[in-house]
Amino acid sequence: MLRSKVAGIGYYVPEQVVTNNDLTEFMDTSDEWIQERTGIKERRYGKKFEETTTTMGARAAEKAIADAGINKEDIDFIIFATLSPDYYFPGCGVLVQRELGITGKEAGALDIRNQCSGFVYGLSVADQFVKSGMYKNVLVIGAEMHSMGLDYSTRGRNVTVIFGDGAGAVVLQPTEEENKGILTTKLHSDGTYAEKLAFISPGAHGGYHQRDAEEKIDYAFSDAKYGEMFVNEHMLENGLLFPDMEGQFVFKLAVQKFPEVIREALEEAGLKPGDIDMLVPHQANLRISKFVQKRMGLSDDQVWNNIQKFGNTTAASIPIALAEAVEKGAVKEGDLVCLAAFGSGFTWGSALIRW
Ligand code: COA
Repeated sequence: MLRSKVAGIGYYVPEQVVTNNDLTEFMDTSDEWIQERTGIKERRYGKKFEETTTTMGARAAEKAIADAGINKEDIDFIIFATLSPDYYFPGCGVLVQRELGITGKEAGALDIRNQCSGFVYGLSVADQFVKSGMYKNVLVIGAEMHSMGLDYSTRGRNVTVIFGDGAGAVVLQPTEEENKGILTTKLHSDGTYAEKLAFISPGAHGGYHQRDAEEKIDYAFSDAKYGEMFVNEHMLENGLLFPDMEGQFVFKLAVQKFPEVIREALEEAGLKPGDIDMLVPHQANLRISKFVQKRMGLSDDQVWNNIQKFGNTTAASIPIALAEAVEKGAVKEGDLVCLAAFGSGFTWGSALIRW
């Protein structure tokens, strides 16, 4: 039976460390508040005007490609998950292809816009391509440059303190080895609460969106006959050009959906929580991870957390955490690894991998 295995893995985080205290220069917050509510001590920010989501993604990809022992030119297909793309369009998939210098082969590139669960979705798509025999080397990247799009005033403190920059990548290849590779992936979504965690502008809504409709905000700000600009003064004035989150709402759903989707994958594979050697949850918030750990009855050495150092890096968080766990020898050949994510959309998913 053909399966896909992680043949190579790598991550990249920018050098610039930003501590909680550094953020208190711009907003009313404290190291104590941030650590208590999220577990985060510091995060990394990319070098402004030099690093981008694409360049960080490329650095992680180069490591994954080297780890797989292949050449860049061997890549057949690229999947790039991010919510902070360099451009509105085209996507980072083609930009990373150019950054890696592998445009000559004209390998396909696909961008995934599924935020925190973007990497798990990307991995699942890549898994289907590899299992079907369509491609032999699929590069899956999760990368974010959040620092370029955050509200650094007190208004944005509930969101801004959480996020950090970075990138992680894997190369998937086919394998016929028994009991190795991706055993299953599970993907879900429910768009009912799309605006509860969203970055809605710039967008084709022209300044109008569902949440405001509920609040009956008057949108008589434009007298243009047709259309509006993707970015307009109304958005700027109303702080609509920043991510927005109803934290407690997200928290409550996350702690329900994480265990649900992990159990679903385990059941399909005929396994139980105790069989997991390493759970690598999306690094949303340390309190969420601890809650999930308790619910699943796992010990500290069965769950990998690094949000303390890197913050929440959204689509990059799982590949960064997984790559770090592998690098530190916490994930070994034969181990059962479980990836799980929940985030904006809402979208969530899990993957079970025999390492
Ligand atoms: N520093 C200091 N105070 C802050 C703050 C900050 N960075 N952010 C918010 N506050 C304040 C709020 O203004 C509020 O003040 P008030 O009581 O005077 O109105 C108070 O802290 C409590 O706010 P609340 O939003 O209820 O806090 P919380 O305990 O829910 O923690 C989160 C906020 C965002 C940390 C928490 O809800 C969370 O982690 N949610 C999940 C978020 C997540 O994981 N997102 C990623 C999903 S993938």
